[in-house]
Amino acid sequence: MSSSPIETIAAWQEEFTAIRRDIHAHPELGLEEHRTAALVAAKLREWGVEVHEGVGRTGVVGVIRGGRAAEGRNDGPRIGLRADMDALPMQEANGFAHASTHPGRMHACGHDGHTTMLLAAAKYLARTRNFDGTVHLIFQPGEEGAGGALAMLEDGLFARFPCDAVFGIHNRPGLPVGEFGLRPGPMMAGVAFFDIQVTGKGGHGARPEATNDPVVMGAAIVQALQSVVARNVPAIERAVLSVTRFDAGQAYNVIPNEVRLGGTVRAFSNEIMALVENRMRAISEGVAAGLGGSAVLDFRVITTPLVNDAMEAAALGDAAAALVGEGHVHRDFPAVMGGEDFAFMLERCPGAYIVTGNGDSAEVHHPRFDFDDRAIPYGAGVLAAVVERKMPRAG
Ligand code: NI
Repeated sequence: MSSSPIETIAAWQEEFTAIRRDIHAHPELGLEEHRTAALVAAKLREWGVEVHEGVGRTGVVGVIRGGRAAEGRNDGPRIGLRADMDALPMQEANGFAHASTHPGRMHACGHDGHTTMLLAAAKYLARTRNFDGTVHLIFQPGEEGAGGALAMLEDGLFARFPCDAVFGIHNRPGLPVGEFGLRPGPMMAGVAFFDIQVTGKGGHGARPEATNDPVVMGAAIVQALQSVVARNVPAIERAVLSVTRFDAGQAYNVIPNEVRLGGTVRAFSNEIMALVENRMRAISEGVAAGLGGSAVLDFRVITTPLVNDAMEAAALGDAAAALVGEGHVHRDFPAVMGGEDFAFMLERCPGAYIVTGNGDSAEVHHPRFDFDDRAIPYGAGVLAAVVERKMPRAG
């Protein structure tokens, strides 16, 4: 056996810190990652990796073959490794040298680090090829609500680059650098956004009897929606329904004709998400009708729940434990109500998602967040290790 991938990749710390900081300084929004994608493609080619650009707009796929696949006999087993590349539309508050050079754009979720970790894993796997099969490196655009995972899937990702298993990684502030967290089954929530258009008859604020007040309808709908999670979702399941927008009227003495409500729903299964949507539609329409008006629900699923395959999560956890020790791998890491569109890939291919400690940093999506470069060898190491462990080279 060769030495641990962490040791090899740690020797390249300076090179990959420079890459990570360069990407951080040049953040690009979802599906506009032209510079980042070009940088990824150039680095992969430099290391002798086959490159496919423009997969799902700005997505990039690299292919590395080892053992029988490198000899051209057959693909052998195939593993996908996925990282996201996009930044957020927010102003960075950090003053360090590698801070964003693009006003109003920032790598506040660490996707600069994820891209760099997958690049470091690619260099390691291309150099060592200590595996028997095919690795598909999936550099995904537009994770932050731009539909990048679906864009790649609709562009034939798994038809063109078939995978028997796919693995993804994200940094986690608050978890020490060098530690990992994951869990079998649901790990991140499915996310939906909704709007409810409430229509009635407005009029003078002094003569409500001549109206059927849509503001009262909207308020009644907000109250009634509280019963969905409390009374319809089984207590053993988890769901959140939050009304976060209530737009109505402009004058003190005018009852408006319409009110617009909006918000978000989180759930850990598609069945519960559908249940919540159905109850929301019935309640909105029924409450509005009872008060003499009407309501129309527009319910949009943004991401499906992220569900780790139990076997693949165990394999990924074992790969992490072999690198950092079982005591630094949290295999019952708490699920969160946040969403992640890697979930769409996991719906179509078994696999698992793991978080790597980002230490005592600001939270993700905070203007002072920064990816911790010391995490690069750990994140890259676990991606490389799962390939070597699941597709061992004979002899
Ligand atoms: Ni993220």
